[in-house]
Amino acid sequence: MSDYNNFPRYLSSKKSIDNRALNQRAWNALAASLDTYEDVEILEIGGGIGTMIERLLERRALQHVRYTLLDEQPENIAEARRRLPEWAEENNFVVSWQDEILILWRGGLQTEIRFMAEDLFDFFAHRNADEKYDLLIAHAFLDLVDIPATLPKLFELLEPKGNFYFTINFDGETIFEPAIPHDEEILARYHQTMDERIINEKLSGDSRAGRHLFSHLREAGGEILEAGSSDWVVFGEANGYPADEAYFLHFIVNTVHGALLRDGEIAPRRLDAWASARHAQITSGTLVYIAHQLDFFGKIP
Ligand SMILES: C[S@@+](CC[C@H](N)C(=O)[O-])C[C@H]1O[C@@H](n2cnc3c(N)ncnc32)[C@H](O)[C@@H]1O
Repeated sequence: MSDYNNFPRYLSSKKSIDNRALNQRAWNALAASLDTYEDVEILEIGGGIGTMIERLLERRALQHVRYTLLDEQPENIAEARRRLPEWAEENNFVVSWQDEILILWRGGLQTEIRFMAEDLFDFFAHRNADEKYDLLIAHAFLDLVDIPATLPKLFELLEPKGNFYFTINFDGETIFEPAIPHDEEILARYHQTMDERIINEKLSGDSRAGRHLFSHLREAGGEILEAGSSDWVVFGEANGYPADEAYFLHFIVNTVHGALLRDGEIAPRRLDAWASARHAQITSGTLVYIAHQLDFFGKIP
């Protein structure tokens, strides 16, 4: 039985899919705003293993940067600390550490990366109130929290006229093709488990976070400068799935399966049959997976 629970590997396998999915207009707006800074202070929340930093550097969107990568899972931060220097050396950066800060230097431009294994809500409580950021990034993160309660606190972290880049916000559509029995029931119930998720005794999560962000962002005082879809589309090519995308698919099917077993509404035998059919389709390269998501770029007053 393969291990479909390796979260850092899932985040790594997701990178090529996110690269295809990210909304180009929102990305261009982000890149244009970064061009206007000589020095920029960035905070990424729920940043996982740091693939967004790699992407920003791969696409040459950064000038001089101080980048804080915050994630509540120490194993993700440990993987980021291991992976980023290796990635940077392969990409011709001069790599050094100053205390706990990773410094990447290439072509006269420097990126300083600070790693924080901390829960966002603890960070809100303990941070130095004078510490502000020019740009806040949340990638595949906001749909996990109580967005209306969290956004005002996030905006307090920004400098006046600071920017936000909130991407891969799930928006209510999961498609597996070809269709098999019980898909509709399973996916509807899976979306419901997202809406009923309780963290720290509070409802946290929204299976339609994408569409709801239009109003939530405005109500929190944000101005949306670009928004658009960033759907994941994963399919097998002649040689199978690209990069490590088969693992990504196994992880997704395993996540749906596990969530619904814990939920207890659908009979385990039905769930087991559904999941084994889906895993078999991945092995034969025939499963197509689409998830509808939305990206936002904007600013505060
Ligand atoms: C779906 S993953 C996305 C990770 C990364 N942004 C990426 O796309 O590769 C969501 C991340 O948010 C982190 N996370 C969830 N709740 C958090 C919280 N309250 N504070 C900080 N990080 C959190 C998780 O540990 C996880 O790494």
